[in-house]
Amino acid sequence: MDLFEYQARDMFEAHGVPVLRGIVAESPEQAQLAAEQLGTPVVVVKAQVKTGGRGKAGGVKLARSPQEAAEHARAILGSDINGHTVHQVMVTEGADIAVEYYFSLLLDRANRRYLAMCSAQGGVDIETLAKEHPEALAKVPVDPRVGIDDDKAGEILEQAGFAVRDAVVIAPVLKKLWEVYQAEDATLVEVNPLVKTGAGRIIALDGKVSLDENADFRHPQHEALADDTGTDPLEMRAKEKGLNYVKLDGSVGVIGNGAGLVMSTLDVVANAGADLPGAPRPANFLDIGGGASAQVMANGLGIILADPQVKSVFVNVFGGITACNEVANGIVHAMKMLGDVASKPLVVRLDGNAVEVGREILREFAHPLVTVVDTMDAAARKAAELAADTATTDPGQSDTPTAPIPRADAATSQEA
Ligand SMILES: Nc1ncnc2c1ncn2[C@@H]1O[C@H](COP(=O)(O)OP(=O)(O)OP(=O)(O)O)[C@@H](O)[C@H]1O
Ligand SMILES: [Mg+2]
Repeated sequence: MDLFEYQARDMFEAHGVPVLRGIVAESPEQAQLAAEQLGTPVVVVKAQVKTGGRGKAGGVKLARSPQEAAEHARAILGSDINGHTVHQVMVTEGADIAVEYYFSLLLDRANRRYLAMCSAQGGVDIETLAKEHPEALAKVPVDPRVGIDDDKAGEILEQAGFAVRDAVVIAPVLKKLWEVYQAEDATLVEVNPLVKTGAGRIIALDGKVSLDENADFRHPQHEALADDTGTDPLEMRAKEKGLNYVKLDGSVGVIGNGAGLVMSTLDVVANAGADLPGAPRPANFLDIGGGASAQVMANGLGIILADPQVKSVFVNVFGGITACNEVANGIVHAMKMLGDVASKPLVVRLDGNAVEVGREILREFAHPLVTVVDTMDAAARKAAELAADTATTDPGQSDTPTAPIPRADAATSQEA
């Protein structure tokens, strides 16, 4: 989960990283009040969007009076910054910046280490710096068991070319940023710019933090940082049900067990539909995981069928510990639970453990909407054809429901 700048600021402050005061505003009036409250001769109004390059896109503006802060907020709020609509701004004190530096700490999966990156030239686009002046960007591996202690901070700052007199004041800030990284289970802590003021203070002026969602159980307070605006409603519903669902823009719903299988299913479906009318493509990614119980299958199908763009569904399951007969029973029960919600054709491909029994269960079930196809390619082709066919059906004869499709959990809750 990525945080907004103001959330990163608050987190930094909680761990003793020096930051400027900042107040979030959702209207020009609130921005004006915030500027009055800060009371500094200059304030900065900053768009709160989870994307970089805000300054260049007009999302960071200096104001010399509360009225000017209100005007900037009026211009920034509701505007689009690199495809993100601004709903909030942060009004922050203006800093007397003498120099801008760069610092980040991230997860280096390939080397099973953390990686600290640091440069005495900050504020700029770091990708450009890394390309044009790679020597100006220090990259120092950090042992997760040791973290950033005095030695490591010294090593990072020396490699980045800092003079000793600057390094001694910056090192404690790097240690605090390590504390944020470790204590909050972050995968990224980036400060760009980290600044030195005219008076020689070091301040984290702009922070980016990504948290490791696998560690959420250790941080109940992180739940409050989640931001649902802009999240697809079906993705939210899937999350509530603990399903790994990503909405895509095609018309073939895809369910599989295991992320790898689902990923390759997406490719196979896209390929199978390429030469068909309308070139049907996958409508989603949905991994129901290893133990595909009837309830999980019903939850997954319910979510996919609630997507009005879906015209057919491809269930692609490889039986392992959960054998195909259990999966087939899951599909049967799911179809019964869903009742009328299950209104679109389903192509099922089963393989692996107990495949024959699984196929037999579905044959006996003989549901008019369920087709069993034995191979992945043929099943993908069938699902793509069904999506293409319905797309070209005369709307006058189509029996596709136009009324909103009822929520699957309304149906499934009777069973629960
Ligand atoms: N409080 C402030 N006081 C003075 N100058 C500021 C302040 N905040 C930002 N700036 C200036 O604006 C520049 C851009 O600000 P900031 O880094 O917050 O946004 P950004 O870099 O455009 O966004 P992102 O880091 O998301 O790409 C800074 O490098 C700094 O020069
Ligand atoms: Mg920045």
